[in-house]
Amino acid sequence: MPIVEADRLARIGAALLKAAGASEEEAQAVATGCVNANLAGHDSHGIIAVPTYIDRVKAGHIVPGAPFTIVQESPTTTVIDGNWGFGFHVNAKAMALTIEKAKTANVAACTVFRQSHVGRLAAYPLMAARAGMIGLATADSGRSPKHVAPFGGREARLGTNPIAIAVPSELEAPFYLDMATSAVAAGKIALAVARGEQIPQGWIIDAEGRHTTDPTDYRKGGALLPLGGTEGYKGSGLAAMVEVLCGLLTGLGFGVEPIGRHNDGCFMAVFNVAAFRPLDKFKQEVADFARYLKSTPPSEGSRGVFYPGEIEYLREQERGKNGIEVEDATWDKLRALARDYGLAADLELT
Ligand SMILES: NC(=O)c1ccc[n+]([C@@H]2O[C@H](COP(=O)([O-])OP(=O)(O)OC[C@H]3O[C@@H](n4cnc5c(N)ncnc54)[C@H](O)[C@@H]3O)[C@@H](O)[C@H]2O)c1
Repeated sequence: MPIVEADRLARIGAALLKAAGASEEEAQAVATGCVNANLAGHDSHGIIAVPTYIDRVKAGHIVPGAPFTIVQESPTTTVIDGNWGFGFHVNAKAMALTIEKAKTANVAACTVFRQSHVGRLAAYPLMAARAGMIGLATADSGRSPKHVAPFGGREARLGTNPIAIAVPSELEAPFYLDMATSAVAAGKIALAVARGEQIPQGWIIDAEGRHTTDPTDYRKGGALLPLGGTEGYKGSGLAAMVEVLCGLLTGLGFGVEPIGRHNDGCFMAVFNVAAFRPLDKFKQEVADFARYLKSTPPSEGSRGVFYPGEIEYLREQERGKNGIEVEDATWDKLRALARDYGLAADLELT
């Protein structure tokens, strides 16, 4: 597996996306967003996704240069139609606008619909945290095929419906939660299949609704379980609430649309900390709180406590220094695309 510097990987991703029709701004947003996911250790949302996004552009499912349309707004709210633009670009613009509104109104929220995949969800609330605000984002994939069975059910009816919340602090590593509401990401099942390994009980059920540790059951009509696995009723409830915020409040609806066009509905909200507490004091207390959590002695077999977001930061440091491992299959796809677009020499991808 090649190990590639983050900057180079972002340059490759952006050049290929531009060749596929993305504007400079769109290409930078998507490529940087993907590489940031790699840096944080979420490879399933990293550079591996760029060839898929290019396929979606070719299929007309993603529209480069799509207009960003505000269909309804008030001083605190915005409803945004992304017109099938790149989710990374549309959602970042939506968050920037919501932060601007919260600077005046202290609290602001938006919904976004008809945009492509938004990738690693933390990217958007982290923008708010950098502006001294608390940011929240939830996402679903509209009426794309579902992967997660609601608690007690046998068939997939929910997406992996992630939630991300970021808060400003004095810590070096940002304090944020960024998680799918499924027991595990679908990518981890595929990895277990590729490695011929069994998976823990509580990740999936098979087509008959039985708990199974055989990862190959997933592709044979099985489903992921909600967060909490065999006791996943709370994860199921969280996923359902995400779907209400991102599917129903956006007007995207629920269920599966046969066309399968990926459509990330998002609900995002921003809270200006200074409207509640002095910002500096709050940032200091969040840092104190993180240190308080970390100061407990480790439980048996544990490496100790990591506050939310810390693991990603440690990976960012390591991968920023040592580079990102790109699986051979992804590297081959990037090389093939570079050849198709006549960029192989420029990108040194021969
Ligand atoms: N756009 C989409 O449609 C979509 C859908 C699902 C997931 N995602 C993204 O996929 C990525 C992965 O999600 P996931 O749920 O599989 O991630 P995960 O299971 O790694 O959980 C991540 C969260 O748990 C925390 N964490 C991880 N290990 C920890 C430890 N040992 N101690 C304390 N905290 C720890 C992390 O800081 C982070 O907040 C996220 O970036 C998410 O936004 C996106």
